[in-house]
Amino acid sequence: MKGVILAGGTGTRLRPLTDIVNKHLLPVGKYPMIHYAIAKMAEAGVKELLLVLGKQSAGLYIDYIGNGRQWGLEVTYKIQEEAGGIAQALALAESFVYPDERLVVLLGDNLFENSLKEAVSRFGKQSGGAHVFLKKVADPQRYGVPVLQGSHITKIVEKPEQPPSQYAVTGIYLYDTAVFDYIRKQNPSNRGELEITDVNNAYAEQGKLTWTLLDGWWTDAGTHSSLFEAGTRLQEREEL
Ligand code: DAU
Repeated sequence: MKGVILAGGTGTRLRPLTDIVNKHLLPVGKYPMIHYAIAKMAEAGVKELLLVLGKQSAGLYIDYIGNGRQWGLEVTYKIQEEAGGIAQALALAESFVYPDERLVVLLGDNLFENSLKEAVSRFGKQSGGAHVFLKKVADPQRYGVPVLQGSHITKIVEKPEQPPSQYAVTGIYLYDTAVFDYIRKQNPSNRGELEITDVNNAYAEQGKLTWTLLDGWWTDAGTHSSLFEAGTRLQEREEL
């Protein structure tokens, strides 16, 4: 299982902090935000990790992470030149993965409590497809929201005004390598991005999208208030 952390994008919702440093290097608790996604990958049993970065602050990531030795990982970097969407960033991982491999993908601004080890190992034994993790939230309109029918996700709606359920699709994804073919078939959305939700919907249409509820706390840290919440959560666990 290979790991991919997506840490490109512009971080506009965290301006003016992100005017001077890339979002995923902002402090959350004791560490820069990116630290937590890397630690989750190591904990899940990933050995080879690709980090997709924007150009902003790229050298600072290398200063902090180096080759990944401190986590027992082998880290490789790729640059996403323009913020063309999560799926566009993920497409950069294609040459990093062997045709029959599986990938665990984390959005660099997602922070959460529980280990992915078991789910990752289960997915490794599954015949393929994609797997997402859902979390019940108070403000689903900020996220990708699933339409649930029994135990199936029939569709995910990105940032709906009228959310079809109370769940957010978190930024934790498990894929087989068909993901790269699905990405190639996507067109940019109204906001000009290749959306990960469209890719997940392509799996859902084929009946190949499975899901589990995420235990423990989860937050993204992409806005000032969620960054503050993430810091508070982590402060409860870490001796600062
Ligand atoms: O946090 C979960 C949510 O993340 C999901 O519920 C949504 O379905 C998904 O679209 C995404 O929504 P956001 O609007 O929060 O995504 P955002 O544009 O903030 O990007 C999240 C991370 O993805 C960001 O921290 C880095 C990475 N990214 C994003 C873009 C747009 C890239 O690496 N490259 C990009 O071009």
